[in-house]
Amino acid sequence: MARTPLLAGNWKMNLNHIEATGLVEQLAWTLKDVKYEREFSEAALIVPFTNIRSVQTVIEGDRLPLRYGAQDVSAHDAGAFTGEISAGMLAKLKCSYVVVGHSERREYHDESNELINAKAKKVIEAGMTPIICVGEVLEIRKAGDQVSHVLAQTKGVLAGIPSEQVAKLVIAYEPVWAIGTGEVATPADAQEVCGAIRSYVREVFGDEAADGVRIQYGGSVTAANVVDIMAQPDVDGALVGGASLKAEEFAKIVMFYRAVR
Ligand code: PGA
Repeated sequence: MARTPLLAGNWKMNLNHIEATGLVEQLAWTLKDVKYEREFSEAALIVPFTNIRSVQTVIEGDRLPLRYGAQDVSAHDAGAFTGEISAGMLAKLKCSYVVVGHSERREYHDESNELINAKAKKVIEAGMTPIICVGEVLEIRKAGDQVSHVLAQTKGVLAGIPSEQVAKLVIAYEPVWAIGTGEVATPADAQEVCGAIRSYVREVFGDEAADGVRIQYGGSVTAANVVDIMAQPDVDGALVGGASLKAEEFAKIVMFYRAVR
């Protein structure tokens, strides 16, 4: 089954809404110049909450071939949760994607697999696609336990999600030691864990889910290394941090397929 690769730029806590508009316009120009072909890859911008409306306005107004989404969501529907943003609010802004369980949320906000699972379910219920993050820290990698660790996380974050929904969601494998460090996992490292995740999904949720679920690699992805990473059979895209803040660099990442076509 053909899975369209998803190249998603995670802006993290960068750019105010005016700067965001500028970057989207710059990116649109770059992609138009090089004639980005959407059938070969899908590009999404994962932006701060305060940028969503501005990014939506530019993308819809100019009919840009870009999707967009949020970096987190509340596990609650509505009510007395000061500072939180609900899945319903994000769906109303026509977000396609919501990242849940990024390692920075796990580390700085103590997010557990259970909470991440609850958030993913809210995203699905609201009609959007969760990008669910998993990944090991350096000590676990050094001990050689990355596969069992990531599969335990995968089990927790996917618990109770119906197979037909698993088929449509996105899992981002992001080794924590490779995030923002410039130390990218080798293509073989990425394939080892992404392949293990797909085998787990096949075993527990069946063939349709395993063939449909898109598994991204994330961690120091750049235009220089994306082609080799994307050549791995179980890698269906990338979650890109730092390099997604530069229009030309991100455009090259989105068009990784040019190198092989
Ligand atoms: P990086 O971040 O590309 O800057 O390493 C990736 C991420 O955290 O999603």
